[in-house]
Formats: sequence, C-alpha cells, structure tokens
Amino acid sequence: MQQRALGLKRTGKTIGLVPTMGFLHEGHLSLMRLARERCDVLVVSIYVNPAQFAPTEDLDAYPRDFGRDEELCNQEGVDLLFYPATMYADDASTWIDEKALSEGLCGAAREGHFQGVCTVVAKLFNLVLPDLAVFGEKDAQQLRIIERMVRDLNFPVEIVRGPILREPDGLAMSSRNKYLSAQQREEALCLRRSLDGVQKLYGEGERSVAVLRRKMLDCIEPVEGAEVDYIEFVDDGSLVAMDEVRGDVLVALAVKIGSTRLIDNEVLHA
Ligand code: PAJ
Repeated sequence: MQQRALGLKRTGKTIGLVPTMGFLHEGHLSLMRLARERCDVLVVSIYVNPAQFAPTEDLDAYPRDFGRDEELCNQEGVDLLFYPATMYADDASTWIDEKALSEGLCGAAREGHFQGVCTVVAKLFNLVLPDLAVFGEKDAQQLRIIERMVRDLNFPVEIVRGPILREPDGLAMSSRNKYLSAQQREEALCLRRSLDGVQKLYGEGERSVAVLRRKMLDCIEPVEGAEVDYIEFVDDGSLVAMDEVRGDVLVALAVKIGSTRLIDNEVLHA
C-alpha cells in the first residue's frame, strides 16, 4: 500500500482515504462520495481493528461481508480497496494515546478503545499517505480525537467531517444495527427521539443540563429493552462536561438495546 501511495504521490496525484471496519452502509458510502469529489485517488480501508475492542466486546461477532463491501466500493468508484489481513506485528509495542478528549464518554466506558483507534488511524495514514481523510460525525468523540491527534502530531492530512446519515425513521446508520431484532429496531428509535426532545427544549430556551438530561431520560427510560450507558452534555471543543449550557454543546449518548450498544449525538449551537 505504501509503495502504491508513494508512486501516486510522485505523479502528483492527491489521495483521499475513508477508513472503515467494513459491513458498509449508506453512512460509509456518503463519506466516500465526500472524499471522491476532493481527490484524484480514492482509497477505502476495511479492517476490523482488534486493538480497539476490549476482550469483552464484539470483535469476533462484528459483522463482515467482504464480497458485498467490494461490490459497493466498485459502484462508488473507489480506486483502491485496502484490506489488510493484519496490521500489527505480534510484538507491536508502540501505541498512540490521546490523553484529554479520550477520557469521558465512550472512552470511560471502553477502556483502551481510543488508543486502538488512534494507533490504527496513524498507521493507516502512514501506509496510505492521504492528503485528506473523511470521518463521520456519527462517532463524534472519535472524530474530535483524530483531529486533535493530527494537530498534535503534525500529520499532513486534512480531516473532513461527514454528516450523520440516518434511516428514514431517524435511527443513525450503523453496522451494529444488524444485531437488532424487529422489536429492538423499534426500541432503538428512543435515541433519536431523546435528541429531538432535547433540541426542542433547548430551542425554547432551557439551559439547565439537569433539566435537559431529564427530558432525554424520559424518552428512554420507559423503553423496556433500553438501558442508558451515558447521556453527556460536553463543551464541543474540550469535551468537558457542563452543568449549564454555554457555547456550542455536544450532546452525546450511548444506550444499550438488549446487548447492542448504540451511540448518537447532536450539537446544540449557541
Ligand atoms: P466504522 O464504524 O466502520 O466507521 C467508519 C466511518 O464511518 C467512521 O468515520 C464513522 O464515523 C462513519 N460512519 C458510521 N456510521 C455513519 C453514519 N450513520 N453517518 C455518517 N458516517 C458514519 O469508525 C470506525 O469504523 C473505526 O473506528 C475506524 C475509524 C475505521 C478505525 O478502526
């Protein structure tokens, strides 16, 4: 991959990268379309990165369908599909640790997760040598951590944000939605409903985080199969939690529907 990338660079081509773990859906494809417009050579990577899964998580069960993914990439005009069997030496011992933005939200619930994400993304940048890389706002914390890593470590890569793509009923698209039964699929709508609720209340002038969070809980707690992992109101830049909404606020939540953990988020603009 690195040889190919160096060859392309020598001929003056710009490279765009969309990193994924496969089992592609419209959300992933929307990122590819964003990248496609802005580069000569579009690279998509598919790698279910073991380093970002805790031992108790769904690494082995994570859905995979390479044949279908390959077909979708062809349809989207992807130039190179990077599909490594493994990305780590057996005795790999160098890791990238972002130490501020990774603390809360999914970082608190998933120990070592963002170290795995940062390390694999840095490796992908070194292998693919992209001019730009697109990440989805669906994973709001991940996106901000990657932006911080790129700034702090001077990666010559422009990070492009891709908006959240949703199903017609509002559920954010995710490879993990596949785990949901028909009933759970219905229950999962409480995430979006809670964000709609909070947005409405915020629009009416409410600024107390306690009141805004209560509104979200009221949308989720009555749903039988739903269990809140976290609902957080954090500063959109520092990801520090706040009691009173001021400036741009990222509202992020993780909810377990049965054993499937779903995330969603929304930015409330000042
Ligand atoms: P994965 O979950 O496959 O997601 C790949 C990219 O697609 C991420 O940037 C994610 O934010 C984006 N994405 C997922 N669902 C989306 C949606 N509904 N709308 C818009 N974008 C969406 O995120 C990862 O993989 C991994 O952590 C990775 C960055 C590849 C590192 O291993």
